[in-house]
Amino acid sequence: MPRITFIQPDGAAETLDAAGLPTAMHAAVRHDVAGLPAECGGQCICVTCMVDVALDWLPRLPPAGPDELDMLADTLGTVPPARRLSCQIRLEPGLDGLVLRIPPTQG
Ligand code: FES
Repeated sequence: MPRITFIQPDGAAETLDAAGLPTAMHAAVRHDVAGLPAECGGQCICVTCMVDVALDWLPRLPPAGPDELDMLADTLGTVPPARRLSCQIRLEPGLDGLVLRIPPTQG
């Protein structure tokens, strides 16, 4: 635990074991989740690890930090309310069952 479900733009979902991994991005990369290349390896500079957090999970995540928000705003022009960088979502037992949607394009 925790387990994370990633949902592709076409609706295909896969639930993965993220045990021992520090962030949601690490879980995606470890399991070769498509559409999430995470090119900078979690340095918060590439914006190729974007996800949309399922709305019922949003209140359970710590808010995005200023660096994360700046990177998203610089890339997208505005920050959609559920959009996050998965490398900035630190995993903890309370996030077991987290659902993340992968957007059609990355930064
Ligand atoms: S992995 Fe590069 S910003 Fe998240």
